[in-house]
Amino acid sequence: MEIATHDPQPVSPTGKALRLAGLFAFMAGLFIADTLTDLEIAIGVLYVAVPLVAASFLPARAILLLSSLCLGLLLTSYELTTGGDPAAGPINRAISVIAVIAATVLVLRIRPAILAGIAAREQLARVARVNMLGELTASIAHEVNQPLAAIANSGNAGLRWLEAQPPNLDKARQALARVVSDAERAASVIARVRSLARPVPPHREWLNALDTVEEIIALIRDELARNQVSLSIDNMEGMPPVLADKVQVQQVLLNLILNAVEAMGTTPPAERTLRITIGVAEGGRALFSVEDNGVGLATDNVEKLFDAFHTTKPDGMGIGLAVTRSIVETHGGKVWATANEEGGASFHFTLPTSRTDIP
Ligand SMILES: Nc1ncnc2c1ncn2[C@@H]1O[C@H](COP(=O)(O)OP(=O)(O)OP(=O)(O)O)[C@@H](O)[C@H]1O
Ligand SMILES: [Mg+2]
Repeated sequence: MEIATHDPQPVSPTGKALRLAGLFAFMAGLFIADTLTDLEIAIGVLYVAVPLVAASFLPARAILLLSSLCLGLLLTSYELTTGGDPAAGPINRAISVIAVIAATVLVLRIRPAILAGIAAREQLARVARVNMLGELTASIAHEVNQPLAAIANSGNAGLRWLEAQPPNLDKARQALARVVSDAERAASVIARVRSLARPVPPHREWLNALDTVEEIIALIRDELARNQVSLSIDNMEGMPPVLADKVQVQQVLLNLILNAVEAMGTTPPAERTLRITIGVAEGGRALFSVEDNGVGLATDNVEKLFDAFHTTKPDGMGIGLAVTRSIVETHGGKVWATANEEGGASFHFTLPTSRTDIP
């Protein structure tokens, strides 16, 4: 993952300025205290706080600069201090200098790991947001469905009143009025959703298939470990680049992997194996397969699994595979499921590559 180069957590410019001002005030206070106290008192060692605090909001170069400034202040106050035992001075000074340098080196070495953690959290949040879209779709569908059912009912009632002998125009008019008000209700739901859902156009780019898979795995490695699932990834040599929206492809992988993990809930922990294969299908498309040795497909009608709201899980939405299919098909690919001979299920999807004629 190319994340170690990111800047630290986004802090507002005012927040940054305030923290920096705080650091300078601390350094100035320390300088005065260090100068006024006797040489035996190694108060200068407290400068180590500066690189430690700076690491949370400043880039590497600024941390280095601040640390050098601390060293400068340390040595200057040593020169200015007159009281105390001159023999203690050099030792205390050396300890302080070494402590500040060590803290700076440590901070700069640990910093990439901290930043990688922050970037990974951000990316997971992005993928999870797309996941939420699936849930949002489900509740919208529900809200629109209600008035639609009511419209069909009132419409039928209206027809019956018109067909009656003699036709009851008054009742028919009431039924039609209900149709109109329910249609308005449905329209208002849609208008509300429209104002909510800012369209996110797919951002297609050339992707390295293995990197894309490994990035999403890195984000859910803890989840796999928690479920005691062992993982293998097979990547074809000379895999061509894939043309797709990275976040959306990772969303697809996430749905399939989570389903596989859930399907292996009843498999003995030592046997839980998730296999991801990356290769090339007919026509030069990239072929991704996610294979598990879980309960297997409960139905012969595999197509049904991809229907929205089809679920066999007590707390499932039945949306994961529907979203998966819509993403893959928007990219000009296909998704399907097969039963493994030795038990378990495999889900496969294709995406265009540099070897495919893009539609
Ligand atoms: N790897 C798998 N092995 C066996 N059955 C599966 C597998 N993946 C999906 N299924 C079946 O397909 C159904 C639909 O999956 P889908 O991901 O769309 O919904 P879900 O997992 O039930 O709920 P959610 O919306 O939270 O993802 C599942 O309920 C399950 O019955
Ligand atoms: Mg699912």
